[in-house]
Amino acid sequence: MTENQEQLLKRLEEKYQAIGQNPDTHLEGLVWAKPITYWDYIQPEALLSLQIQRTTLPDEMVFIMYHQINELLFKMILWEIDQVCSKDEVSAKFFSDKLTRISRYFDMLSSSFTIMGDGMEVEQYMKFRNTLTPASGFQSAQYRLIEFASTEIINLIDFRFRATIDRNTPIEHAYDHLYWQAAGKDHKTGKKNTLITLFEEKYKDDFLRKMETYNTNNLWTKFKSLPSDIKSDESLVKAMRHYDYTVNVTWVMAHYSAAEKYLESGPKKAEATGGSDWKKYMHPKYQRRIFFPELWSAEELEKWGEF
Ligand code: HEM
Repeated sequence: MTENQEQLLKRLEEKYQAIGQNPDTHLEGLVWAKPITYWDYIQPEALLSLQIQRTTLPDEMVFIMYHQINELLFKMILWEIDQVCSKDEVSAKFFSDKLTRISRYFDMLSSSFTIMGDGMEVEQYMKFRNTLTPASGFQSAQYRLIEFASTEIINLIDFRFRATIDRNTPIEHAYDHLYWQAAGKDHKTGKKNTLITLFEEKYKDDFLRKMETYNTNNLWTKFKSLPSDIKSDESLVKAMRHYDYTVNVTWVMAHYSAAEKYLESGPKKAEATGGSDWKKYMHPKYQRRIFFPELWSAEELEKWGEF
């Protein structure tokens, strides 16, 4: 036996003894283990069996798959954010490396959105959207979790109610005043619509729990807790601003343009599947969603969504 093999056996012995397991049993298990393959590990068959159309229109497949790609990237984004948020002491390098990864994922989402805008036939979209009513991307839970994990709740409160909410406000009250509640109201009657009622039945309890956890442990609070020389590091501030702008302006505008193309071309102009007053609601100028407000000048804040 080589010296290296002896070392390996010793390390395995220590590993299994530490958890009260017999190392010999595990070594014996290796004799019978199957060689790993791409398909066992990556699970392409399982992944590729999840695209189920509700209509006969071929472009609906593009619509389903692109949404699923978004959900996978949302999961990658949350994975990175959670590592930053769950770490007690975050170094500047760790923070900035993770932030760069997160931004890279969101850049992919923004630059690929033309798959929705130009990559489907308007005539087909206008047909299958009826079959999919009242479902909407608005009901993506991971998108909401990314927001909770990126900033403090106050920055996600509907701009009109911000002055009435502070750290002592009960979490459920804050939830009821999140900016996206505006899309869940029938703009004629003011009552909650089906879009949000179904969404809340499924996710509200989980959201309230996650809001509590993330409110003191999110990208923004972590950044603020860094030593001041690191907080003023030019490239880190640039990366923070880039992430904020990509999520809250670039992606929102790419999404808005795609929505405009389809919803403006129908007979019931500007009516969204989810039933929101989407034109007003979705524009960054109206939402004024800004994760890291102190990293923008007064002028930039005032012109949010216009530059
Ligand atoms: C042709 C493509 C699309 C159109 C026409 C469209 C349209 C809309 C509309 C009108 C809304 C407002 C809520 C409503 O009434 O439904 C909305 C919200 C939303 N959509 Fe899309 N969407 C498209 C693709 C996507 C994709 C690919 C995603 C990725 C998951 C997505 C995610 C979202 C999210 C997260 C919201 C909520 C945004 C917010 O609250 O600011 N959408 N969409």
